[in-house]
Amino acid sequence: MKPKISSKTDRYINDELQYGAHNYHPLPVVLNRGEGIYVWDVEGNKYVDFLSAYSAVNQGHCHPKIVKALKEQSSILTLTSRAFHNNILGTYEKYVTSLFGYDKILPMNTGVEGGETAIKLCRKWAYKIKGVQENKAKIIFAENNFWGRTLAAVSSSTDPSAFNDYGPYLPGFDIVRYNDLKDLEKSLEDPNVAGFMVEPIQGEAGVIVPDEGYLEKAYKLCKSKNVLFIADEVQTGISRTGKLFCCQHENVKPDILILGKALSGGVFPVSAVLADDEIMMTIKPGEHGSTFGGNPLGCKVAMAALEVAVEENLAENSKRLGKIFREKLSHFAKKNKLIKLVRGKGLLNAIVINDSEHSPTAWNICLKLRDKGLLAKPTHGNIIRFAPPLVINETQLLSSVQIIMNTFRDFKT
Ligand SMILES: Cc1ncc(COP(=O)(O)O)c(C=O)c1O
Repeated sequence: MKPKISSKTDRYINDELQYGAHNYHPLPVVLNRGEGIYVWDVEGNKYVDFLSAYSAVNQGHCHPKIVKALKEQSSILTLTSRAFHNNILGTYEKYVTSLFGYDKILPMNTGVEGGETAIKLCRKWAYKIKGVQENKAKIIFAENNFWGRTLAAVSSSTDPSAFNDYGPYLPGFDIVRYNDLKDLEKSLEDPNVAGFMVEPIQGEAGVIVPDEGYLEKAYKLCKSKNVLFIADEVQTGISRTGKLFCCQHENVKPDILILGKALSGGVFPVSAVLADDEIMMTIKPGEHGSTFGGNPLGCKVAMAALEVAVEENLAENSKRLGKIFREKLSHFAKKNKLIKLVRGKGLLNAIVINDSEHSPTAWNICLKLRDKGLLAKPTHGNIIRFAPPLVINETQLLSSVQIIMNTFRDFKT
């Protein structure tokens, strides 16, 4: 069934086009409500959300416990800045550090700020502890990484659409191939290397899952060279891949762990950098921070969001339903020429389309999925990511898989 699209939808879209920068290319659907795994558009059409705001809404839209925390705290105290203490921050810090097993947390707001913070911490540690000569520290990144849009992030990007025309770039970054231990080992020969920052699964690159053992071996290589292993778990964290954070699949405790997105259940921008004292205590008062980082409202929301992830066993649900998702669609893919590959971990999955990288097939399939009541978005090239809220149940998952199969079956290029 095709959803109703009226001049109302067009009006909202036109306002965005006329008054907003054209820095995104959204699917033409205008949402005005969300609950659990569902969202509704301004015409009243209902959709299953298979993007979850790029894995920020793992706990489901408007989760009552998280919204309650937001409502309560918003009428008590929202922002003090770090010029003063507040009565929520310490409780939140204690909760998060004990949940993730670190000495300290540095609270920020967005994922990209988490990445920036991790790099600054790593450089500081290199100069103060490792003994790297001033201004010589290097951080290694993997090819096709994505961690945001700041100048540091685009300086470490290998995607021309991210870095073109934004130079000059920040120095001190090197690139290795993802999932290539030899390449990493070679780059670690440089004694000025301070850290290796990596996504346990490359989300934006198209849900690229490295070989089993890659993270553990990369971590050990880093250890052997006194290099910090920095995990960017902004997208893979908070139960998305079937563990609280993805490195746990290989029993790796990153030296620096970056969290964001679902840390607040998509209710408020909250990010965090976790590390032990040897690293975290290199930063002194006045050397890093943010007006909003550690605000009581964000802390309360994040605590509620983490409690939901734990109490509702979202990691377990993600692991179990993710397996079913891949089994069903991999089986279906054998008979469908449009699908090259189904891959992922937990409920972070992707279908790779059997077509040239620059063809509009993935986009057109997403339009058809929308028409059948499921929202997903192409990521890099001809790949569609499927990442529903982790509160999805088996019946809902199976009916969503049916929508995906029907769409691929009926699709004409
Ligand atoms: C792995 C990863 N790191 C960092 C970020 C940046 O997060 P934010 O958009 O909140 O700055 C993203 C965003 O998609 C991401 O996927």
